[in-house]
Amino acid sequence: MSTNNHYLCQLAELPDNSSLGFDLPDAGIGVFAVRRGDRVFVYRNLCPHVHIPLEWVEHEFLTADMSLIQCANHGALFAIETGQCIAGPCNGQSLQAIEHQITDGALYAITTE
Ligand code: FES
Repeated sequence: MSTNNHYLCQLAELPDNSSLGFDLPDAGIGVFAVRRGDRVFVYRNLCPHVHIPLEWVEHEFLTADMSLIQCANHGALFAIETGQCIAGPCNGQSLQAIEHQITDGALYAITTE
């Protein structure tokens, strides 16, 4: 089993209360990152409802008030800190958290294969 680091962005490119989506062709998945103050959360861009990407508009994964992650397809809402669906058709299921690290101001996703 080996781990791969995937450069996502500079932390400065992900302002507080914003989200950014990324394709990781090497890993064959899409992910997105959400910033909350000093904390960053990274999830696989796959809704547990019907296993399709969450966003319709590039990089837009949050509700208008930026308090929750929202799936654009059927409106499922997820807690930013845990990825757990708190309302909608996949209530009780969770987004898949992606390991990540911040090194020298840059955000990396970590995948294993
Ligand atoms: S695909 Fe996300 S709520 Fe249906």
